Amino acid sequence: MRRIYLDNASTSFPKAVGVVQAMNDYLTENAANPGRGSYEHAFQAMENVMDCRAKLAKLFGSDNPRLVTFSLNVTTALNTLIAGLLTRDDHVLVSGVEHNAVMRALHVHGIPYSIIPCDSEGRLIPEAMPALIKAKTKALILSSASNVTGTIQPIQKAAMLAQSYGLWTCIDAAQGTPTVDCRLQPTLIDAIAFTGHKGLAGPQGVGGLVLSEQLANNIVPTVGGGTGSRSDSFAMPETFPDRLEAGTQNIVGIVGLSAALDFLPKKGDADRTSCSRLLSYFLSDGRITVIGPKTMQERTSVLSIIVQGFDLAELAYRLGSEYGIQTRYGLHCAPLAHQSLGTLQTGTIRFSCGWATTSEQIDYTIAAMKELLS
Ligand SMILES: Cc1ncc(COP(=O)(O)O)c(C=O)c1O
Repeated sequence: MRRIYLDNASTSFPKAVGVVQAMNDYLTENAANPGRGSYEHAFQAMENVMDCRAKLAKLFGSDNPRLVTFSLNVTTALNTLIAGLLTRDDHVLVSGVEHNAVMRALHVHGIPYSIIPCDSEGRLIPEAMPALIKAKTKALILSSASNVTGTIQPIQKAAMLAQSYGLWTCIDAAQGTPTVDCRLQPTLIDAIAFTGHKGLAGPQGVGGLVLSEQLANNIVPTVGGGTGSRSDSFAMPETFPDRLEAGTQNIVGIVGLSAALDFLPKKGDADRTSCSRLLSYFLSDGRITVIGPKTMQERTSVLSIIVQGFDLAELAYRLGSEYGIQTRYGLHCAPLAHQSLGTLQTGTIRFSCGWATTSEQIDYTIAAMKELLS
């Protein structure tokens, strides 16, 4: 059966052009451990990693690639940030649509939080923030876009409010990248956590942080280990990126991500046009409710729906097993969002388009939905 992949919000498929080749070349010809060898391939590996940092710094508006640190994904990046910046005596604000990457990290590290309410389409209400801020509130942690509704958040407005109360603003850019313009702005947006395998169409296993100088000076390492530098001390180096990069990183993944970043300007807007066509169809069928914004201006290419009178789990299963259309059903690791949107009981079916989604695939998906709902 053909494969129509509409689960790009989980992970992109296919990966960007050039990713597989770059990873293959690295593994078959060039593998070495950066910072751990005084020979050509180790130097080259270090250069490749620095090159990827520079591309990410540019993408996220940083002028210091050394303050781009790698980790396994955005989840580990957020844990590094939360555990390294905050204590149990602090308090943070989060939006009502945060992913468990934020909520569970706060829970695991015992950081108290308050939830800023969202409207019925998952938009954060910045005006609700002041009443929630306490003396010990230290940070606002906010996703740039919801993974359930695709809602693009008013990050600038929220960050300005947070700044006026002296809070750090830390962005979970997992879903917003690259649709949402999310850039580091020291004292306004001081940390961006990213993941390489979703909108950037890189491989799984690479994410990280982009930090401002001010925030970097306030974060402590929570994992210790070798860095290939300052090996005479049991303490982690003070300098970045080593301070937050204990142990060998996913170099082959970083090489793949670097190739994906090269492809980014060429990737086009197939995800947007495909999503727009799906959105029009969903809005035209009275049985289907789109959860989230009804226009493309306010959303990423992630669409969640519920369908009156249909079991959503069964619908998603039949789309997959009878038509090869791969979507995701359930809570999408974001129960808080469903609580805010009133869909905790039903969950949603999520369709998320990617750079390689074609209009023919969308026609086929619409036809399949019509058949299944008939
Ligand atoms: C908004 C958001 N944050 C965090 C994550 C976690 O991403 P990862 O699994 O790459 O850590 C996701 C994944 O779906 C997400 O959508």
